[in-house]
Amino acid sequence: MEDGLQMRAAVLEEFGKPLVVQDVDLADPAAGEVLVRLVACGVCHTDMYTASGVDPSGYSPTVLGHEGAGVVEALGEGVESVSVGDHVVTLFSPQCRECEHCRSPKTNLCLAIREQQNLGHLPDGTTRLSRDVEPMRHFMGTSAFAEYTVIPAIALAKVSPDAPLEHAALFSCGLSTGLGAAMYTAKVEAGSTCVVFGAGMVGLGAVAGARLQGAERIICVDLAEDRLELARGQGATDTWTGGPDVVERVLEETRGFGADYTFEATGLVAVMAQAVEAARMGWGLCTVAGVAGKGETLDVVPRLLITGRRVCGSSFGGVKGRDQVPELVQRALDGDIDVAPFISHRITLDEVNRGFELMEAQDGIRSVIDF
Ligand SMILES: NC(=O)c1ccc[n+]([C@@H]2O[C@H](COP(=O)([O-])OP(=O)(O)OC[C@H]3O[C@@H](n4cnc5c(N)ncnc54)[C@H](O)[C@@H]3O)[C@@H](O)[C@H]2O)c1
Ligand SMILES: [Zn+2]
Ligand SMILES: [Zn+2]
Repeated sequence: MEDGLQMRAAVLEEFGKPLVVQDVDLADPAAGEVLVRLVACGVCHTDMYTASGVDPSGYSPTVLGHEGAGVVEALGEGVESVSVGDHVVTLFSPQCRECEHCRSPKTNLCLAIREQQNLGHLPDGTTRLSRDVEPMRHFMGTSAFAEYTVIPAIALAKVSPDAPLEHAALFSCGLSTGLGAAMYTAKVEAGSTCVVFGAGMVGLGAVAGARLQGAERIICVDLAEDRLELARGQGATDTWTGGPDVVERVLEETRGFGADYTFEATGLVAVMAQAVEAARMGWGLCTVAGVAGKGETLDVVPRLLITGRRVCGSSFGGVKGRDQVPELVQRALDGDIDVAPFISHRITLDEVNRGFELMEAQDGIRSVIDF
């Protein structure tokens, strides 16, 4: 392991162009870092968003991928939180357990490596990825569209070895985001009424999270009937087709008050506005999980807020990755969360661009790369 290794990886060479799968060099893990052999990696909107070039903070060349799960192969100096052979999930949202935010129960936004991660660097300001000696940047601190990755130990959640790694991979982004929005951000109370806008990976996770919290009524709203069918499977008690009349219908069915909790998981600002308007007068909480397009703004009539509605956002579902991802994975193993229906396609690394095409066509919920 002295000189690192060579591996296959999907590289974003040029924005708006297909990823190019090729040989890339990966150096040994430095202090505080871990070498992970990827076993599965989901293809998520954020990968496609960056590949398209629309993301203003995007850069290339880089190895994309952030929904990874795999096995620890080697440890850099001083790593004690994981051991060789452990099953792990990559965390684009790390948890150092020491920074001001990690010490607060109010947020999961760890501050430890934020700046370097945004630049595509590992915490020491350099990269382990390279091609022909030219350094190449890491994506979201994870770069999991590859046979291996080197990642900070604080960005790895150790999960039960009993969990299939293709299931565990979904907890590294979309599924945890939805579950956590309901469980950790909104902290849905038992007996409440929830409305979830959007039934992709995130919205379906929110439906499941609301169910786990004991919500009495879970209304899921989407445009696609096949997705509403999946929502029923995750615990939605009502499924409605989206459109301009949804808010009125929520009010009608809640004696004119609105829902205790609403969740937005579409990324559309018009739907975010609906989610605010559908929240209950007095105490309704609207949780926004969708990522809006650059420059878009959310339009809210202030009177809605004065009369007791609240709006909050949720990044990675408020999940503190190293502590709570293993708990969520365990709940799936215990039979509380049905993960299998989310995996619609299994593809090889060479087929990664097909994963993007399937996503664009809204064909299935998740394509998972099987290494
Ligand atoms: N906050 C985070 O940390 C985080 C993490 C991952 C993803 N996201 C974001 O969450 C959003 C959802 O992600 P996803 O993977 O579930 O996406 P997705 O595209 O699979 O799902 C979005 C769903 O919204 C539905 N929809 C579209 N218009 C609608 C309308 N008018 N009313 C109701 N539903 C409508 C679509 O039919 C689709 O099923 C995206 O914006 C994504 O970027 C956020
Ligand atoms: Zn993602
Ligand atoms: Zn931290």
